[in-house]
Amino acid sequence: MQCSWKAVILLALASIAIQYTAIRTLTSKPFQLCPVPSPQNCGLLGGPGTESPIEGRAGCDDYPYFSFNASRKTHIMVLATTRSGSSFVGQLLNQHADVFYLFEPLYHVQTTLIPRLSHSRNAADRRVMLGASRDLLRSLYGCDLYFLESYIKPAPANHTTDKLFRRGASRALCSQPVCDAFGPTNANVEEGDCVKKCAALNMTLAADACREKRHVAIKVVRVPEIGDLRALVEDPRLNIKVIQLVRDPRGILSSRIETFRDTYRLWRIWRATGRRPYNLDLSQLTVVCEDFLGSVSTGLSHPHWLKGKYMLVRYEDLSRNPLLKTMEIYDFLGLSMDKSVEEWIQTNTRGSTELSAKHKYGTVRDSAANAESWRLKLSYDMVEYTQATCQKVLHQLGYKAVKSAEELKNLSLSLVQDKTFVPFL
Ligand SMILES: *[C@@H]1O[C@H](CO)[C@@H](O)[C@H](O)[C@H]1NC(C)=O
Ligand SMILES: *[C@@H]1O[C@H](CO)[C@@H](O)[C@H](O)[C@H]1NC(C)=O
Ligand SMILES: *[C@@H]1O[C@H](CO)[C@@H](O)[C@H](O)[C@H]1NC(C)=O
Ligand SMILES: *[C@@H]1O[C@H](CO)[C@@H](O)[C@H](O)[C@H]1NC(C)=O
Repeated sequence: MQCSWKAVILLALASIAIQYTAIRTLTSKPFQLCPVPSPQNCGLLGGPGTESPIEGRAGCDDYPYFSFNASRKTHIMVLATTRSGSSFVGQLLNQHADVFYLFEPLYHVQTTLIPRLSHSRNAADRRVMLGASRDLLRSLYGCDLYFLESYIKPAPANHTTDKLFRRGASRALCSQPVCDAFGPTNANVEEGDCVKKCAALNMTLAADACREKRHVAIKVVRVPEIGDLRALVEDPRLNIKVIQLVRDPRGILSSRIETFRDTYRLWRIWRATGRRPYNLDLSQLTVVCEDFLGSVSTGLSHPHWLKGKYMLVRYEDLSRNPLLKTMEIYDFLGLSMDKSVEEWIQTNTRGSTELSAKHKYGTVRDSAANAESWRLKLSYDMVEYTQATCQKVLHQLGYKAVKSAEELKNLSLSLVQDKTFVPFL
């Protein structure tokens, strides 16, 4: 199969003109035009519609698309934001024997394209990031893991890398045939052990493992709103199901203050001194609420393109009743829950009421120990401020505002209203 030179040059020029900003940040990387055509590197993304600023794959239209067997694979997306319990939900899927799971691959896109702005609101940056993200997700759902290599630093040699973000969170990447260190058992491997003991990740083997599994699940915390995913959701080659995970913004704020100590330093000063620093970056809070509001309004308005593809899950409901809620999630996905998922829930949650404090997944330990523990950590001032800022979304999601410090600290008074969000079928 030959690439047509005219087509290659034309498309490359068009791509350069449009995505110049992005490419500029990647000058250390040669702008590859039509690598050796094969289903692996030309498949999914062929055609001038490609959005990614990386590589001129557009010339490879000899291999139109993978023949996606939509009746076979489900492409699961956990759409969330940081510190909302997404790692826990990711694990609920990762434990399933038929699921190939990836923990936040968009991390690599962000660090490559927008290294200096971790939560950029700049419209141009955002467009570039979203275009690249959709492209990457599209190819990952097709098990084209080579595509991810363009974003990994240092660039993998011979399709091998030890720099894949949170590789250890993915069961398939820590067990045979991808990793031999733990023998043939498919037992749960600690994330740290996986990283320490497995040889560098062979992306070819990883892609094979992905193809072997019936379903692919990806955790995503770097896409602001579900509307940004419409092109993916509507892509006929994919069979996307979105699980949107939300959490009380007051809980998210509290958890971020504990976790991202540098970035949220000023919030800690506010908490400690009782005075709001004048230079506090309020967008660290408002962005969460705006994104939730946008997403949830879209999701709950039931647009035709989300039919059968959208389920809203409140973290607090999951935390109260993990087994039941997980069954609902699996039901929505059309998968049967297997034994290992159930076992994992048993091990990682205490009874079926609270998520255990003593288990290995950081998120389970911190944010899930008690979904309402933020009430003892935030000052009333901060809570009041958050409530004012996020009023609409609190109401929409069924989180009650408190009117006094006493109410805030009185944990026998639940702030989570009973509210049922049925999947949009
Ligand atoms: C899709 O997968 C199913 C189950 O593996 C198989 O029976 C069917 O023939 C496949 N369809 C196509 C078009 O490949
Ligand atoms: C990649 O593979 C080639 C051929 O097998 C070998 O010569 C080269 O040293 C390898 N590069 C690295 C970085 O391992
Ligand atoms: C990665 O795995 C593939 C498939 O088994 C193999 O052909 C290749 O040599 C491996 N690459 C390295 C660098 O070991
Ligand atoms: C806490 O709230 C409960 C339920 O509304 C109430 O009965 C109780 O008196 C409150 N406790 C305090 C110390 O205010």
